[in-house]
Amino acid sequence: MTASVPAFPADFLWGVSASAFQIEGSPTADGRGPSSWDAFTREPGRIKDGSHADVATDHYRRYREDVALMAGLGVGAYRFSVSWSRVLPDGHGQVNRKGLDFYDRLVDALCTAGIAPVPTLFHWDTPLALEEKGGWLTRDTAERFAQYASVVAERLADRVPMWITINEPAEVTLLGYGIGEHAPGKGLVFDALPAAHHQLLAHGLGVQALRAAGARQIGIAASHSPVWPASDSAEDRGAAELYDLLTNRLFADPVLTGAYPDEGLASLLPGPVAEDLKTISAPLDWYGINYYNPMLVGAPQPASPAGEFGGIEIPADLPFAFRPIEGCEHTDFGWPVVPDGLRELLVRLRERYGDRLPPLYITENGCSYADAPDPVTGRIADDRRIEYHAGHLAALHRAMAQGVDVRGYFIWSILDNFEWAEGYRQRFGLVHVDYETLERTPKESYAWYRDVIKGGR
Ligand code: FCB
Repeated sequence: MTASVPAFPADFLWGVSASAFQIEGSPTADGRGPSSWDAFTREPGRIKDGSHADVATDHYRRYREDVALMAGLGVGAYRFSVSWSRVLPDGHGQVNRKGLDFYDRLVDALCTAGIAPVPTLFHWDTPLALEEKGGWLTRDTAERFAQYASVVAERLADRVPMWITINEPAEVTLLGYGIGEHAPGKGLVFDALPAAHHQLLAHGLGVQALRAAGARQIGIAASHSPVWPASDSAEDRGAAELYDLLTNRLFADPVLTGAYPDEGLASLLPGPVAEDLKTISAPLDWYGINYYNPMLVGAPQPASPAGEFGGIEIPADLPFAFRPIEGCEHTDFGWPVVPDGLRELLVRLRERYGDRLPPLYITENGCSYADAPDPVTGRIADDRRIEYHAGHLAALHRAMAQGVDVRGYFIWSILDNFEWAEGYRQRFGLVHVDYETLERTPKESYAWYRDVIKGGR
């Protein structure tokens, strides 16, 4: 398969991503405490294939093999996440040195392989002890996060060249607290907004803690999508604008401009919001974008019933409704494949935030396809994944040609892994995982990406 990719700058950073809960397994090893996701996966009916992540890809024990796979790929960086519950089993207080030792060994293995370690401090797995006290609905969790950030940075900052505070606060707010599709499974709808504010505050406090511990190059990984109105009608445009505000601007505006996008909305948030915004908007070295697809949004017609969209249960009576995007391919997850949406998004962010937008990295981009090993040859011919990434890299290149400063691209994901509420049925990896034997088999997209990286160098 030879889907070609345009030339990127020589110092462009090529990477792969994963997160602790989705790959590590070993939930009680070396003193790890439980997380919100351990509890959530135990609730009947929450995970569509009935699975949990007690083993996942067994990365906690096989990390050396996984680092070797990354070295074979030739990536310059690996974005992983640190499990808060390994480091602080109760979420605060007593540090579990053995948990921290795991990340120390991982960072050393990456450095030895010439791969830059890029840790994310929070990728959704809140320590259960904190979740039980209200999780991100309480301010306390943000303060605990700052302690956790200091502990990790004091141990790793000497070898880590790039840091990420939190991953996708929008998804935790909307899916976790808003509609309950993810942990902690709450259906608070608009009462979930404090979870947004407290994660943003945690980000700001985390930046301070990281800097105080000598960490360099700090960013955030935020999900963003272009939001397309379903038609030109005032109702559809209004609904799309509201959805854009809730998923894009609610999270990016405070970080990049120091203000919430809407005063009415800011007035619903708890605590000394104006003061907090100063913390939240502390300058960043870079900003990370997770991009998967655009959203087509219209007004509910006439009242929108509950239903399913993109694999997610949507409650009734929201002030907007999602419409299917037609006329394009869809991944096995049902997500539309719209590479140019990445260019559109980046150009739009640049227009919206101007010089306030720091250099960008694409911290996630990827697709779920279920291609399995050929029974005779063992090859995994995931041509659609190659097309997907080639298309998105071409779109990224066009955005850069239009003046957007993008410094790197991380594929989600190095390995097939536990895809949250979907369990193991969505496979995003460049490397196939056999969940019976835990055997790793590079797919054809792995060889393709290796050649892209080689060519890029
Ligand atoms: C993102 C998550 C990541 C993964 C991909 C498919 O929203 O950050 O953990 O599940 O989606």
